[in-house]
Amino acid sequence: MTFWQPLPGDSLAVDVQSLAKRRGFIWQSAEIYGAMSGFYDYGAMGARLKRKWEDAWLKYFMGLNDNYHLIDTTNILPHAALKASGHVDGFTDPLVECSKCGQAYRADQMIEDKTGEPAEGFTLEEIDAKVAELGLVCLKCKSQFKNARIFNMMFPVPIGTTGKDMAYLRPETAQGAYLNFKRHFEIMRRRLPLGLTIIGKAYRNEIAPRQGVYRMRELIQAELQIFMDPDTFSESLDLKEMEGKMLNVQLVDMRGSGNFQPISCADLIEKHKLPDFYVYHMLKIQEFYLDLINIPSEKFRFFEKSEAERAFYNRVHFDIEVDLHTLGGFKEVAGLHYRGDYDLSKHQAGSGEKMEVSIEGKRLIPHVLELSFGVDRNVWTLLDVHLVDERTGVLKLPPVLAPYTFAVFPLMRKEELIPVAKDIHQKLRMDYDVYYDQSGSIGKRYARMDEIGTPFCITVDYDGLEDGTVTIRDTDSAEQKRIKLDKIEEIARALATGRMTFSDLE
Ligand code: GLY
Repeated sequence: MTFWQPLPGDSLAVDVQSLAKRRGFIWQSAEIYGAMSGFYDYGAMGARLKRKWEDAWLKYFMGLNDNYHLIDTTNILPHAALKASGHVDGFTDPLVECSKCGQAYRADQMIEDKTGEPAEGFTLEEIDAKVAELGLVCLKCKSQFKNARIFNMMFPVPIGTTGKDMAYLRPETAQGAYLNFKRHFEIMRRRLPLGLTIIGKAYRNEIAPRQGVYRMRELIQAELQIFMDPDTFSESLDLKEMEGKMLNVQLVDMRGSGNFQPISCADLIEKHKLPDFYVYHMLKIQEFYLDLINIPSEKFRFFEKSEAERAFYNRVHFDIEVDLHTLGGFKEVAGLHYRGDYDLSKHQAGSGEKMEVSIEGKRLIPHVLELSFGVDRNVWTLLDVHLVDERTGVLKLPPVLAPYTFAVFPLMRKEELIPVAKDIHQKLRMDYDVYYDQSGSIGKRYARMDEIGTPFCITVDYDGLEDGTVTIRDTDSAEQKRIKLDKIEEIARALATGRMTFSDLE
């Protein structure tokens, strides 16, 4: 079973899909029963890679302020909360159904596929007119469509034995942070900005999930909700960091003229009137992708959403997009949303609970700046962007993200070599993710590590037994160096933390 049908001749897309399954990263859930669209399981390598990405993300974004905290909240939320948030009425997609076979399609996607232009934000009347104008018919049986209608994407969950208490699987993790804001504001000694982060599942009953992990019905989000006073938030940020910095940006009015333009942070604030705190976080996000995750700059951009395309709660909205070969171009992997005081105001109105706070005599309902990342999309991005060598299948992951940082091998399965290799494995595994393998040819063992992106392989051989050394092999270059056995822990620490690169090794 494939994730989706790659274009004819697209061998890299075939390779990434094949690697994802062959080496234990990700595949469709319940495969042995034919699988359901939009649900995926992570295997042994995928779960590690996902966890590493989440850890790197948490460390980086929680490090922006010491009043940012990780919380964990429920997947099921009551009807009342999601009614107040606007999701019961507004979390919808337009649907067209075949009048004969009943096959359903997302109307805006059908139009986009035909015209190549975004069709988000069309009214139902506009969709019906476009469907007629473009002559769109059911892809299965070629029959006409019924009139477009709105479809709510939340999964309802009847609670208890009677099922009278209606709830939903959460459509975004964000709501957990809003519902817990007031309590955390008190716990964290009434300070703004206050950041609440949740990494967890969200659920969306997508009309027609396609393109594999890009559109899932059960997905993982990593979201940071920053509660702040828009008049003073900038004072907590080191705005000087933006001096002279350029961002890869495609503004609404630049569409159609290349993928993006480099625009300075200063211009985005002064000429394009974006809030300085918003642009500061754009810079932080760009640095995360370019410097930490090693996405090449030409594959990264901020894509501004128009008013019609923005989610109903957003005042300023840029998607973060990466050019993904396997998905045919720039695709959204995250979003930076200035949600204003929409969320807390709605929950104040819906619950009757006061969300207003008082800071140095000023009363306000805090505004929210949301950093929202799709974890599955970001994991797929790592496979797509870093599988650099189709022929040998080398996955060049930054050490901080690799499922295993080191592998340890005895050159051959020989009694003299095995205890030394096992001893190294035992020592290193206390601090790092280390893979041990003693079976099969050394070439095949290296190739397997190349495919899962293990940056360094340590091999114990006969020469080393004589002079107290081992070899260390760098996956990027396939080069090997000999290092002293008694220096191994020191060198491992320097390589794993990035304080030293392989080329620095004597
Ligand atoms: N919380 C924003 C989103 O789910 O897109």
